[in-house]
Amino acid sequence: MEQFHVPVLLKETLEFLNVRPGEKYIDATLGGGGHTWAIIHAGGKVLGIDQDKEALEYVKSNPEFPVPNSRLVITYGNFAHLKEIAAEANFSQVAGILLDLGLSGYQVESAGRGFSFRQDAPLDMRMDQTVETATAADLLNGLGREELAKLFRVYGEEPFAQALARAIVRQRKTGKITTTAQLAEIVSRVVGKRQGKIHPATLVFQALRIAVNDEINCLKAVLPQAQELLKKDGRLVVISFHSLEDRIVKDYFRGQAVLKVLTEKPLAATPEEIRINPRARSAKLRAAEKTVKE
Ligand SMILES: C[S@@+](CC[C@H](N)C(=O)[O-])C[C@H]1O[C@@H](n2cnc3c(N)ncnc32)[C@H](O)[C@@H]1O
Repeated sequence: MEQFHVPVLLKETLEFLNVRPGEKYIDATLGGGGHTWAIIHAGGKVLGIDQDKEALEYVKSNPEFPVPNSRLVITYGNFAHLKEIAAEANFSQVAGILLDLGLSGYQVESAGRGFSFRQDAPLDMRMDQTVETATAADLLNGLGREELAKLFRVYGEEPFAQALARAIVRQRKTGKITTTAQLAEIVSRVVGKRQGKIHPATLVFQALRIAVNDEINCLKAVLPQAQELLKKDGRLVVISFHSLEDRIVKDYFRGQAVLKVLTEKPLAATPEEIRINPRARSAKLRAAEKTVKE
């Protein structure tokens, strides 16, 4: 692929982070480092975290990035453990934290990771390839019909959740479902053509990915830790791509007396950005500022 990842809402993220030279920032979703690069070039020092070692390797080997430890510290880890990771890197009282949720373009398009129905691959979908957690294939072959239907309904907002769960349970009586092509074929058979532009399997793949990576619990875990790590006037910026995530962020921001919400409504990408980068279509940015010193 030509580019690892095209950063979404880049200008808006920098504005809301209010990057100031010499201040510390945490990019808890380093990915291809697009946002981090811009923060560094605006004068900030960054702790960049990702649970996908391929992302860390990409940024480390990119000649455009400064030498680690001067302006950029790169760390492997899950942001669900943000406080611990930040303490080890000596990042506290930071001026800004960014969470750009979900997958990078690289992950989606990487052959063999199983995130995309566009390429046949084993149904893996773990962002962190080093942990022995359940893969998408494990969930598809192991969960009961009701559990599968719930997963598709809640994480995928999939209108055909029940019918799909039934079809999967029927299919696996004849043998395990192990590949993206097999799953995409079952979904297409049940769902037929969807209205609009999305592929019939989009929602099911999204639901499985969210479940495999425990994305909702990780988001719930990171928000209070991020808030604690901020100094007074520090900013927390979250870009989400799913209504469930966006609601969690909105409710968290509103429920914290120490946070001032800077985005009454979430920011979306302009039509121009969406034209250049279709992934920005569902992006929603919310930002808040810490109002007290702790
Ligand atoms: C949308 S991409 C970030 C792209 C990045 N902002 C850029 O401009 O290149 C999200 C990244 O966050 C990582 N990620 C997602 N959930 C994570 C978690 N719980 N802990 C650590 N990294 C995570 C993914 O592996 C992926 O590389």
